[in-house]
Amino acid sequence: MRTATRVAGQGLSPIRRMALDAPPGVVDLGLGEPGWRPPDVGQAAVEGTSLDYGPNTSDPALVAAIARSASPAGGVAAEEVMVTAGSQAALYALFQAYAEPGSVVLVPDPGFVAYPTLARMCGATPVGYPLAAGGDLDPDALVAALGEQRHTSLVVLNHPANPTGGLASAEALARVADACAERGVLLVSDEVYAELWVERRPASLRDVSAEGVVLGSMSKAFAAPGLRIGWALGDPEVLAPARLVHNAMTTAPSRLSQAAALTLLEAAEDVLPASRAQVRERWGAVDRLAPHLPTSGQRFVGDGHQKPMSRTAGRAGFYLWLALPGDLDGDGRARHDEHGGSGTEAFALRLRDEGGVTTIPGTAFGPGGAGFLRVSLGGPVPQVEEGLRRLAPWWEA
Ligand SMILES: Cc1ncc(COP(=O)(O)O)c(C=O)c1O
Repeated sequence: MRTATRVAGQGLSPIRRMALDAPPGVVDLGLGEPGWRPPDVGQAAVEGTSLDYGPNTSDPALVAAIARSASPAGGVAAEEVMVTAGSQAALYALFQAYAEPGSVVLVPDPGFVAYPTLARMCGATPVGYPLAAGGDLDPDALVAALGEQRHTSLVVLNHPANPTGGLASAEALARVADACAERGVLLVSDEVYAELWVERRPASLRDVSAEGVVLGSMSKAFAAPGLRIGWALGDPEVLAPARLVHNAMTTAPSRLSQAAALTLLEAAEDVLPASRAQVRERWGAVDRLAPHLPTSGQRFVGDGHQKPMSRTAGRAGFYLWLALPGDLDGDGRARHDEHGGSGTEAFALRLRDEGGVTTIPGTAFGPGGAGFLRVSLGGPVPQVEEGLRRLAPWWEA
């Protein structure tokens, strides 16, 4: 028996690896999971739920609720919604449907660890495209990568981004959407953190283009990752082959999860502001407990002098993308010569074993993450506060 090539060589996620062998008492700021509870949807939501398979396309009431949440004015039709077993399954289905073996999938570098894995599982080659300093989408860099990689089948965007927290402007999204459309390349815009904004809603691909597919999830803003419910929004014809993959893989998400997700979506007017308040509280803790940390969200003024901005300004999501001590040059980019990949990992291990706090080395997300750590502020507030207290002295001169 031989493991298929597309799977052989895929290892344990570097994020899980940081959790292995952690000394006792370490505070975990590694895992990217909301540490607050959604409203209790227990018994009431699932009582009486049918346990038959249900439609392959999921409960029509859930589909309608997702469509409404994407466009309260009714601009999204049921056929434009594909409900999946977490947005991860939407990614899997879209990759399987569109990433031809031998083709290139353009993924953000640094970016969410699943994208390159999913590309390889299709026999495609993941190629990283660079982000702007701070992790925002750099449309010039992405369009240039598209020009160089003639065999690109699929482009993935992620904003607000994991791991950088970077965003994408409406203009940048429109430009990338046009470039993908011109070349007949599928654009997947992973927006699973979009509802966790601090001050204002970030731009969505849907605001500026009918091209591409936008991903959403119950896992982040609804704080219910265990439901394993996510979705893709897009042209029904684009979604059709991905639906075939998803149906072949899992038929449809669990009926109980669908029922619970419907209850949460129907309470979105309460649930989402409560989740945003949770995220605001965590960014407030960064400002309060570790104002000197050089995060990627820090902008630079006039003479290149670093002037820390409030960590809450223009934020979304719960990732702090933290440059290693002394590791930002005047443009806010990591100085790779001082901390190459192994230096970044060694620093994360020291921080864990001597400083008592687990973070994720930026290199876990691609070579572009050298010189940075991802700090998840998603956990319970006392844990996040204690982790920040332990982190802060390492950045004091
Ligand atoms: C950027 C991004 N996309 C997708 C996912 C998958 O989320 P889920 O399958 O829980 O919806 C995650 C999970 O961490 C993520 O960070």
